[in-house]
Amino acid sequence: MTVATNPAYITETLIAEDIDAYLVKHQHKTMLRFITCGSVDDGKSTLIGRLLYDSKMIFEDQLATLENDSKMHGTQGQGIDFALLVDGLAAEREQGITIDVAYRFFATDKRKFIVADTPGHEQYTRNMVTGASTADLAVILIDARQGVLTQTRRHSYLVNLLGIKNIVLAVNKMDLVGYSAERFYEIVSEYSHFAKQIGMKSFLPIPISGLAGDNIVTRSENTAWYQGPTLLGHLEDAPITVARMQDAPFRMAVQWVNRPNLDFRGFAGLIGSGSIAPGDAIRILPSGKTTTVKSIVTYGGNLDRAVAGQSVTLTFNDEVDCSRGDVITTADAPCEVADQFEATLVWMGEAEMLPGRPYLLKMGTQTLTATVTEPKYEVNVNTLEHLTSDTLKLNAIGVVNISTDRAIPFDSYANNPDLGGFILIDRATNATIAAGMVHFALRRSQNIHWQALDVDRTAHAAIKNQQPKVVWFTGLSGSGKSTIANIVEKKLHAMGKHTFLLDGDNVRHGLNRDLGFTDADRVENIRRVGEVARLMTDAGLIVLTAFISPFQAERRLVRDMMDAGEFMEVYVDTPLEVAESRDVKGLYKKARAGNLKNFTGIDSPYEAPEAPELTVNTTALTAEEAAELVIAAILAS
Ligand code: ADX
Repeated sequence: MTVATNPAYITETLIAEDIDAYLVKHQHKTMLRFITCGSVDDGKSTLIGRLLYDSKMIFEDQLATLENDSKMHGTQGQGIDFALLVDGLAAEREQGITIDVAYRFFATDKRKFIVADTPGHEQYTRNMVTGASTADLAVILIDARQGVLTQTRRHSYLVNLLGIKNIVLAVNKMDLVGYSAERFYEIVSEYSHFAKQIGMKSFLPIPISGLAGDNIVTRSENTAWYQGPTLLGHLEDAPITVARMQDAPFRMAVQWVNRPNLDFRGFAGLIGSGSIAPGDAIRILPSGKTTTVKSIVTYGGNLDRAVAGQSVTLTFNDEVDCSRGDVITTADAPCEVADQFEATLVWMGEAEMLPGRPYLLKMGTQTLTATVTEPKYEVNVNTLEHLTSDTLKLNAIGVVNISTDRAIPFDSYANNPDLGGFILIDRATNATIAAGMVHFALRRSQNIHWQALDVDRTAHAAIKNQQPKVVWFTGLSGSGKSTIANIVEKKLHAMGKHTFLLDGDNVRHGLNRDLGFTDADRVENIRRVGEVARLMTDAGLIVLTAFISPFQAERRLVRDMMDAGEFMEVYVDTPLEVAESRDVKGLYKKARAGNLKNFTGIDSPYEAPEAPELTVNTTALTAEEAAELVIAAILAS
């Protein structure tokens, strides 16, 4: 087999199983991660195939098959059809991968590369964000015959949003437009206009042909008018992100505290930006405590200086508190600390975003609970228009406010993707449902302080001589929640207990008059009721609540608001058939007839509690008996 390209570039043959050995062999070369964006017809597969072929990382037997296949398919006498190669590899490798991103490895004398290949179909946003989140560079492919398409705009918007600074506009299929300089510059000018609109700082246009090999590895004689680098040449010389981050202020998120014995206490992590040396003044966030670095410890011995991209363990000259999730920064340019932000979200969940629902937020080395408090607008990626929207659906991009359960150190994503980028995770399914980029902290988060009151919740409870509590009844409409809660309250009242009953139908006449029965409204209904119940326990009351509260996530949110032992979940377990046959308010009938939408149990879900403090089965017990059980449980706790 012969390869008709410049052998100086070709150093390695790689097969998938050899990746570990291969990476070890090339460990002293820098690694460039890049993403290719384009639709099927832009020739993306052909281009990637060409890069892999020219860097000789294909099995010999795969080549033989390919040459045969190409002969069969006929490629206008141009030899191998590279697209067949990539599509073949993709089919093999993507088995069992849920997100459609194929990563491929190759190397030249100068550098090693990982290319993320994301398919251009309708799942593009989720795939692209996954592929681009770690990329140093993006290659945006354009078919020279087509020019800038809606797809191109979408891809460019995302690439820019994700903060990729190095963008190549590969104007492909130049052979099909007669290598016309005029056509090339026409496309470049159109793209410049759009790039400016989205705030892209710069891009490098290269005229290429993936099929014919023009300006991929060697400069093409067909484009004598083009003076710039070849695609591979540029990939070899482009700056990698980590190198750029070395000039930024020092940041290291603490991954773990290394304390093998009482004499050594080190803080291990990956330096996200900047550099550090023994003696440097540092600040630990969120506490804000300062100290100086004593030593930089690594497996290979102590260092005089360490930079972004290195994993190190730092020791301090003072005994200051520092734990996993904290961020060590340079003392004079620390990052910010806040618990409310504005951020851009790329929604990747199958289920739509629910404002007010507690999600897990993962940023750097910390994981905490967060809610989207306010969707501000959605961006139409094709037109850049801002659309009003109160949710985000799969693949949508929008700007929202986020509130976290505690203050965390962060940077804006634009300044430091490590400390400004985050993901949201659904607690129930553990799936990643959004990628986020912090813009800035909301000023209100820094200006509202908790007012310490002299007559506190303990004082309120003491004068009432009782333990405050929330007794949370949950179950289907017509299950008997209100009936049982009402009896419980009467009995507690008779015992001289100070109580209050919050009931779904009643609260919806006042405080929650603005809410309906969509998932989002139910989330907000329960969030508000939870806050009110919490305030009432601060006042020392035993609070009974009767709400369908169909979602586990919000019941848990309220549980988490309360002190340990103060939340008692009572599942009023009544099968749907039974509740429906009772149909006290005639609502099931209406719902079955299609005259009432989003009715729980009919066309809206109910998630039964997994571990309630108490379950009462109303088919076996009367309401009176159920109430007795609840009272007994309250008095016992
Ligand atoms: S929750 O789901 O948000 O917790 P909530 O307990 O406040 O519901 O209100 C439920 C009551 O509203 C029901 O008992 C019923 O009387 C009434 N209702 C009206 N429409 C609906 C509906 N679509 N789904 C459930 N309940 C409804």
